[in-house]
Amino acid sequence: MDFSSVQGKVVIVTGATRGIGEAIAKIFGEHGMKVACAARSEKQGEAVARSIVENGGEAIFIKTDCGKKEDIKALVAKTVEAFGRLDGIVNNAGIGMGGIPLHEYDDEDYDKIFDINSKGIFIGMKYAAEAIFKSRSEGGFIINIASIAGIMPQRGQALYTATKHGVVGMTKSAALDYAPYNITVNAICPGYTKTTIFGDAPDAALDMFAKDCPAGRMGNSEECAYLALFLASGMARYITGAAIPVDGALSAGHQNVSSWRHPEILTGASLNSGSTIAALMENDTSRAIVDKYLPGFSANEQAKQAYGMTFGAIAPMFGLPAETVKKMLDELDNM
Ligand SMILES: NC(=O)c1ccc[n+]([C@@H]2O[C@H](COP(=O)([O-])OP(=O)(O)OC[C@H]3O[C@@H](n4cnc5c(N)ncnc54)[C@H](O)[C@@H]3O)[C@@H](O)[C@H]2O)c1
Repeated sequence: MDFSSVQGKVVIVTGATRGIGEAIAKIFGEHGMKVACAARSEKQGEAVARSIVENGGEAIFIKTDCGKKEDIKALVAKTVEAFGRLDGIVNNAGIGMGGIPLHEYDDEDYDKIFDINSKGIFIGMKYAAEAIFKSRSEGGFIINIASIAGIMPQRGQALYTATKHGVVGMTKSAALDYAPYNITVNAICPGYTKTTIFGDAPDAALDMFAKDCPAGRMGNSEECAYLALFLASGMARYITGAAIPVDGALSAGHQNVSSWRHPEILTGASLNSGSTIAALMENDTSRAIVDKYLPGFSANEQAKQAYGMTFGAIAPMFGLPAETVKKMLDELDNM
């Protein structure tokens, strides 16, 4: 793909010190964009900007708290001062919060998360849009990092879900405002993506996220970053007002039971614990592993109902101790 259309474009990336924002800033820098990396931590922000410059790109760090209107206003002004113009912004900075039912949140929680995930995005869009207009950008763009929680509500995440639904709504409304002026506005909706937003979540929890996802794994930041690069490019000028999931089909729908009539098409070197049971049953080695832990499984008619699923998703139903299930999945991974 030819990304030369992004060369020389001036862009702000908020929350650029780590995770998805860092990946976007670096991939933009690699492709010749002039990047203003915005974040609170001077040390980490300077390091990201420096690494872009060391790789032959152009980047500056601008210390910004995206929970503060004046900081965001100054961020846009300083970017224009440094690079002479603005073509786009990626409103990425955001915080997670959750895992509790709605009534257990405090109203301070509401203010905290809305200040950054919602108001911060609005202010970023507002001042960036003005600067993009003033720059007479040909191919201006606004990219908001929402979440699958912006299109598919999450249990225990009432406030986070509300902010991300708001981001998707703002994105679509602003796309209507700016479409006549050739400024695109889109939202990227990451699914479970391995970044520090998961904090100190134990490996077992990360495993659970991977298994919950139809693709059988968590995403990585670069998978969102390449979509951002495409949306910033001349190839995506007709894509606007979209909320695009990068989530291994997590938000595509409910994972129902299905069984394949011809699972033999799935067999091959890439079998592992993320493969469907149907595919594992078609392979002598994997069938032997399953039989070792679940004697008689392959001959059990009821078990066949689950052939379209993975053992990771249904293993707890067999009543095997978690440690045994883990051993079986590890063995399947090491076939
Ligand atoms: N990782 C995921 O699974 C996931 C899934 C869906 C959506 N998202 C969204 O993607 C975006 C990036 O998340 P991530 O996973 O890279 O998280 P992360 O915690 O690794 O990075 C978040 C970045 O935002 C910055 N940030 C937070 N508050 C800020 C503030 N007040 N001012 C300036 N910067 C601030 C942090 O310093 C950091 O650079 C967030 O908006 C998040 O909601 C992430």
